Parts: sequence; C-alpha cells; structure tokens
Amino acid sequence: MALIVLEGIDGSGKSTQLRHLCAHMDTLGRDYTRLVFPQYDKPSSALLRMYLNGAFGSDPGAVGAHAASTFFAVDRYASYKTVWGEAYAAGGTILTDRYVSSNAVHQGSKLFGAEREVFFRWLDEFEHGLMELPRPDIVLYMDVPIEIALENVRTRRAETGAAADIHEAGEAYLRACAETAKDAAAFYGWRFVRCAAGGKMRPEQEIHQEILGIIKTAGLI
Ligand code: TMP
Ligand code: MG
Repeated sequence: MALIVLEGIDGSGKSTQLRHLCAHMDTLGRDYTRLVFPQYDKPSSALLRMYLNGAFGSDPGAVGAHAASTFFAVDRYASYKTVWGEAYAAGGTILTDRYVSSNAVHQGSKLFGAEREVFFRWLDEFEHGLMELPRPDIVLYMDVPIEIALENVRTRRAETGAAADIHEAGEAYLRACAETAKDAAAFYGWRFVRCAAGGKMRPEQEIHQEILGIIKTAGLI
C-alpha cells in the first residue's frame, strides 16, 4: 500500500500534477484512489468552510493554528472512514492533493521559532497518532517561488472568477506559508520538486517525469 501526497502552496500546480499522475496510472492499468482535500462538497468540511469564508474573522490569525487544524483534520477523518480507508488497508495506492502536510504549511505559519517545531510534533501526534490517519509514504513538495505562485493564483482567479478565501486574500500570509514549508519539509523529510526555472514554471511534462522518477525510485508505483 502506498499513500502519496502532493503538497504545495496555492498556485504551485498540485492539481495539474495529480491529473498527470492519475493519467499515468490509467495508462498502466493500475488501480488507485484519487483524493483532494479539503472536501468542500462534504458536510465534514463545514467548520473549515466557515473558517476559510471568514466566519471566525477575515484574518487567518483570528483562529489559532491548533483550532484551525482540527477543522481540516475532521474532514480528513471522514474521508478516511468513508472513502479510502478500506482501499488503503487492502494495499491500494492513494494519490492525494493536500493532506496533513497542508496543516503543517498553512497553520504552522501562524507560529514562530521553537513554537513552530512544537506544533509540527503536535500535528503529527494528533492526526497520525491519536486520530490514526495513515502516515504518508512520501510527500512531494511542489517548490515554486512565491512570486510565480501568486501570479498563478491571480491568473486562475481571473479565469474562473472564484472569490479568494481568507488564506488567499492576503499575500503576506501565503509568503509566510512558503517560508514555513521549508521548515516543515526539513522537519518531516518531504521531497522537494523544483517546479520553476529561470523565473517561470517548468513545462508540466518535465515536472511530471521528475515526480514519476521519485515515486518509482521509492518503489511506490
Ligand atoms: P485549497 O486552496 O486547496 O482549496 O485549500 C484551502 C486552503 O486551506 C489552502 O490555503 C490550504 C488550507 N489547508 C489547511 O490549512 N489545512 C489542511 O489540512 C488543508 C487540506 C488545507
Ligand atoms: Mg486555495
């Protein structure tokens, strides 16, 4: 069984790369379960939707890292119990866009110095230890310079007309998340995937091949 996570800040190309990865599995004729967190269309995401829509304050800092993490954790728990727990236990391959690592990046950014590391340890114990959500086999962190990621978010918003959530509304917050990701990657041992070169995104297929290489070398597919 393998649990493979694509992680990254907004605008890092996670969903694009998950699409390529799933297409690759389809070509191989391999079974897999594709997940995307949060599960906005499920009741288990009620609290995190309130949070992201600003019901508890328009500044992400209005809700502490631990409280906000619990909102996302219960959504993951519901998904584990109802969607993928059995497939995982039966040895299936799970491919997911965001996971516990998103709490590390987006909630860990609310804490600094030693407190951030204490939070990383707490998060692992809370979601994986106490809630018994499986630990990922690999977390691939889509490393994109913040300016390019912000530009990608702006472009997508202009195309889709989607309103910004409280994390996306302030660029300072996403900048802090990008910094926090470096700490989290070192703490948890994530693999970095360099998604940009020469001031722009690398071609999708190039990134896809790099991701495949890492996953194959790790013996996960
Ligand atoms: P999205 O951008 O993929 O729709 O995710 C919504 C926001 O929620 C994004 O800024 C990342 C954040 N988030 C967490 O803080 N913790 C989590 O566990 C997840 C899944 C997302
Ligand atoms: Mg977002």
